[in-house]
Amino acid sequence: MPAPLRLGLAGLGTVGIGVVKILQRHADLIAARTGRPIVITAVSARDRSKNRDAELSSYTWETDPIALAKRNDVDVFVEVMGGAEGAAKLATEAAIASGKDVVTANKALLAHHGQALAEAAEAAGCVIRFEAAVAGGIPVIKVLTEALAANQIQRVMGVMNGTCNYILTRMQNAGLPYETVLKEAQQLGYLEADPNLDVGGIDAGHKLSLLASIAFGTRVSFDAVELEGIGKVSIDDIRMANDMGYHIKLLGVVQMTGRGLEQRMTPCLVPADSPLGQLQGGTNMIVLEGDSVGQIVMRGPGAGEGPTSSAVMSDVMDIARGLRLPTFGLPATSLVPAIPAKSATPAPYYMRMKLLDKPGALAKVAACLGEAGISINQMRQLNQPGEDNNAIVLIVTHKAAPADVSHALAAFPGTGVLKGAAVAIRIEEV
Ligand code: NAP
Ligand code: HSE
Repeated sequence: MPAPLRLGLAGLGTVGIGVVKILQRHADLIAARTGRPIVITAVSARDRSKNRDAELSSYTWETDPIALAKRNDVDVFVEVMGGAEGAAKLATEAAIASGKDVVTANKALLAHHGQALAEAAEAAGCVIRFEAAVAGGIPVIKVLTEALAANQIQRVMGVMNGTCNYILTRMQNAGLPYETVLKEAQQLGYLEADPNLDVGGIDAGHKLSLLASIAFGTRVSFDAVELEGIGKVSIDDIRMANDMGYHIKLLGVVQMTGRGLEQRMTPCLVPADSPLGQLQGGTNMIVLEGDSVGQIVMRGPGAGEGPTSSAVMSDVMDIARGLRLPTFGLPATSLVPAIPAKSATPAPYYMRMKLLDKPGALAKVAACLGEAGISINQMRQLNQPGEDNNAIVLIVTHKAAPADVSHALAAFPGTGVLKGAAVAIRIEEV
């Protein structure tokens, strides 16, 4: 049997302990499948005295993850500490400078520093692998980089943040407002330490930017992702969209258009009976479209000890087998800067507004839409009990450019017939 592949594990939280447990439970199976044993030699975390629900006594403890990354008895540095800066970045750089391969679950680190790290790794003859960083247990990086390597990718879409999908589906199923469900999710421990990473769409945007790079051969450009979180999604819109046959999802979409690379992570309406529309709870879903393969839909757990450590181990085992691919599928120096599309592709929009229920009110709204070049596809008026002088009006437009929608929204207040602001949410054709 060849010499063991030796891991230095930085981070002993949810993911790190999952890696320890898989290696302890399946050491023989893993060795048989890769042709060599895989062992942990040293570990690092902040607090050595913490009870971690795993047997760690046979591993050397390193207080400093940078020292861990440089150790001579470490072949692969496994970074599962988290954070775009600080220890994770410094230790990853140190590992590469010491000629180690890197496996990480850290999408924030790669979204911000992926290009520089990939260039450094490839110049040093090292690999960086990050299956766990996007959609947890779903093997989307492997599918995109390897299984679909002969395809021109046309579009990548998905629900990539389980916490947001939990919140949106719970609002829908229980009829509860956002604030109540957010508190519930917090009590269940679903939210990141900084909740805005989840509900602000940032975590999912990080993931989308990594997929965009692999799919379209572009440098990671997280700053160009159009980001909008779920904080403004109201229970009224969830109910009314549902009545019209749609569900609201925090949906990531990346596609190359004639106007440049379009990257969006925003709340969208999707058909309720589509695979994305049916997705419940904390589950993730990724939809890949390639010119030869057509559409592939992958669904699975996007987080948690088991799914995420399964993905980390898949990367480690590829390294043990000798598979050495560029970080983002193409040599890092050949990735081209992404030219961001200035605006999203036209799409139908859902609009909700409260109008004074009086002659000519609807005509004024329709005139604003017409002047903005937007055509109405469906319209519905709801008269709510106790609101004699007001009516809720729901409109589904034909395809409209986002700039035209903004133009119409800006013109609505001037009509004098709206009560409050109108809501407009994109309907994604999936
Ligand atoms: P976690 O439970 O918070 O664990 C983080 C670990 O890193 C802890 O053991 C912590 O030490 C250690 N650590 C943090 N800063 C450190 C430092 N400066 N020096 C040494 N050790 C340090 O985090 P996690 O959920 O396992 O996530 C780890 C990474 O995986 C993150 O990048 C995350 O985004 C990614 N990820 C997580 C999931 C998931 O389901 N949890 C899914 C996909 C990706 P102490 O224990 O001593 O505090
Ligand atoms: N906070 C993420 C989610 C898990 O809710 O999907 C880590 O990627």
